[in-house]
Amino acid sequence: MYLHDALAPAGSDAKSLALLWWVFLTISLVVYATVITALVLAIRRARRRRLPAGSPVQLTDRDAPAGKVVAAALGLTTLILLGMLTTELVVGRAVLDESQPEGDAVSIRVTAQQFWWKLEYEDGPPGQRLVTANELFVPVGRPVELRLQSSDVIHSFWLPALAGKRDLIPGNENTLRFSVLRPGDYEGQCAEFCGYQHANMRLILTAMDGPAFEAWKTAQLAEAGAPATEELQRGQWVFERSSCALCHAVRGTAARGTVGPDLTHFGSRRRIAATPLRNTPATLARWIVDPQRLKPGSRMPATALAPDDLRALVAWLGSLQ
Ligand code: CUA
Repeated sequence: MYLHDALAPAGSDAKSLALLWWVFLTISLVVYATVITALVLAIRRARRRRLPAGSPVQLTDRDAPAGKVVAAALGLTTLILLGMLTTELVVGRAVLDESQPEGDAVSIRVTAQQFWWKLEYEDGPPGQRLVTANELFVPVGRPVELRLQSSDVIHSFWLPALAGKRDLIPGNENTLRFSVLRPGDYEGQCAEFCGYQHANMRLILTAMDGPAFEAWKTAQLAEAGAPATEELQRGQWVFERSSCALCHAVRGTAARGTVGPDLTHFGSRRRIAATPLRNTPATLARWIVDPQRLKPGSRMPATALAPDDLRALVAWLGSLQ
């Protein structure tokens, strides 16, 4: 199950934000209950005195404490508001501080596109960095530093269970830093309307322990292996010679396109095209032949292929583990 709940925090930032929510909710509920009780008491009291409608209120000696109560309520209101402001400032500082949490961070450049996420792990020399899409893997307990940018319009990066929203703005770099507290899969979503397929601009973050993360990274850094069967060979041949290779790269082959997601390890991905569609051969075939039907407005053009070529292509993409 993927977690998508800001009130079940599993990240350092989200924990602070959830605390802020509960503090504000509790104070607001107590204040609301007190105000409504005072209102009911006041109405009852006015009824007991049976003042004719519209007559001016006459304060008597019995009302003397009322002035004090109002003064006390005013003072208390100021104190409560100051308390809430302080809590908000403290949490806000902790969330926005780009050196928190401290430690050796995993730095990942996230480039938002209409309508998917390009993910580049920034360790290692340029040209040998791990590039993937839509499925983010990070180690548990180590700071994650996301450098957020956009290649077209403004998007917003949001993993509710882990951190607050942060915009991705063309020509500007924002940083989001947090650490994940528990292993698991966490659902993310673009949170700023960015076009037709805004709602289908999702991502999954998988948090795993350190050794598993390093093993994942080593596997993902490897180039695609040579196809083992004749059908897979044909699949690669179709990919390299059709329009696929103009937009997509598969390291270790002739395909070097940079417009769409890097597909070197496409077979290991759980979903297709940043949508909730599961990565199965049947769905992949439908996606290749008619992407506008599954994700209208996406930048992927339709590719007409002979049935045998399509089958070989789908098999080869699935073999890219
Ligand atoms: Cu990208 Cu909404």
